[in-house]
Amino acid sequence: MSKEENAIIARKLSKRFPRKVFPRLEYFDVLRDVSFSIKKGERVALIGSNGSGKTTLLKTMATIYLPDSGDLLINGYDVYKHAEKIASHTTLISPALDFQKKLTLRQTLRFFHSIQAPYGELDIALDFLKRMHMEYLLDKRLESFSEGQKAITRIAIGMMKNPDIFFLDEITTGLDVNRKEDLVDFLKENISSEQTIVMVDHDPLIVERICDSYILLSRGVVVKQGRAKDIGKELAYKYEVMVIMKDRPEFDEIVMLFPDQADDVLIDGHVVYFRAEDEDELYSIIERLRLNRETITKYVVSLVDLSNIYHALKPETINEIRTVEDEKGLPERTPTFDELQEIIRLFGIMIDTKSGVKIPPRKLP
Ligand SMILES: Nc1ncnc2c1ncn2[C@@H]1O[C@H](COP(=O)(O)OP(=O)(O)O)[C@@H](O)[C@H]1O
Ligand SMILES: [Mg+2]
Repeated sequence: MSKEENAIIARKLSKRFPRKVFPRLEYFDVLRDVSFSIKKGERVALIGSNGSGKTTLLKTMATIYLPDSGDLLINGYDVYKHAEKIASHTTLISPALDFQKKLTLRQTLRFFHSIQAPYGELDIALDFLKRMHMEYLLDKRLESFSEGQKAITRIAIGMMKNPDIFFLDEITTGLDVNRKEDLVDFLKENISSEQTIVMVDHDPLIVERICDSYILLSRGVVVKQGRAKDIGKELAYKYEVMVIMKDRPEFDEIVMLFPDQADDVLIDGHVVYFRAEDEDELYSIIERLRLNRETITKYVVSLVDLSNIYHALKPETINEIRTVEDEKGLPERTPTFDELQEIIRLFGIMIDTKSGVKIPPRKLP
């Protein structure tokens, strides 16, 4: 394949940040020997738990950060030599973009249009806002905007440039279901097959609908790449059901009510969590909930959140991650406090990282 067909080529890319470890200054690697290539027009999802390096990789590709070592070619241009050229043909849309609150939406668009000049067209942003039913806000100040409206404003600004490559960092976060649908439709209709997308999103359905492929990162290492529609195959479960009981339940009681789910239940006060591998299992849980409706206040079903993907992965995939991390000489994974809480919440188990022994605290203290 000729080089021209690749939008992005990364070879052994590394990025480190300083970290103060009193009284010294240490460095830690956020990206380690990251290699991949992305074809022109491809739509790629970066997935991986919080802190795995997704945003750092997006920012590096968008030339906001320079890599510390390795090669990175964007549209054939070397990031060390042609950062400006790359920046003019790419857009990073990120929730970190903040606004001058006293400006109206129209003034804000004009401001960003003027600083992007000569690239970008105001009309693209206006069309997008119309499509997202936000035209009526054009002369309102941003201080009155909801988080969802600000998120749409950021996307409108990013769209203006009509870039060759879009880097989209969690752009659907904070949007309600209808807005998400409108946005996905807009992206599918208005981004041409020549334009490339590299994106991060927590919602597996969004990823499935927009992306062709995925790159799985763990602690700054590329563990695996594959087709976006196969992400589900890496997951041990797809749904989580949170049930609020009227009375604080005992574990034995829950086992009696939900005999099929006894292995996968976590009780935390009034709240009971179940995990379901697929739709069939989900329906069987919901059926049981219906039968026991008088004992339940309410229940919420949610899809697995990709920002916690590490906890939802199948043991085989976790083993693959460990193998790749071992090859990179990464120290044994010791879960952070947040990760431990998440493990307890989702699995109802704790794993002693040294012995590998599973400790099942059926109830949280
Ligand atoms: N500018 C920075 N300075 C120091 N550490 C950073 C900086 N940006 C990110 N990090 C650290 O790098 C790691 C990866 O962060 P990030 O790329 O934001 O991960 P993700 O987007 O996958 O959640 C985290 O441990 C984070 O704290
Ligand atoms: Mg991030």
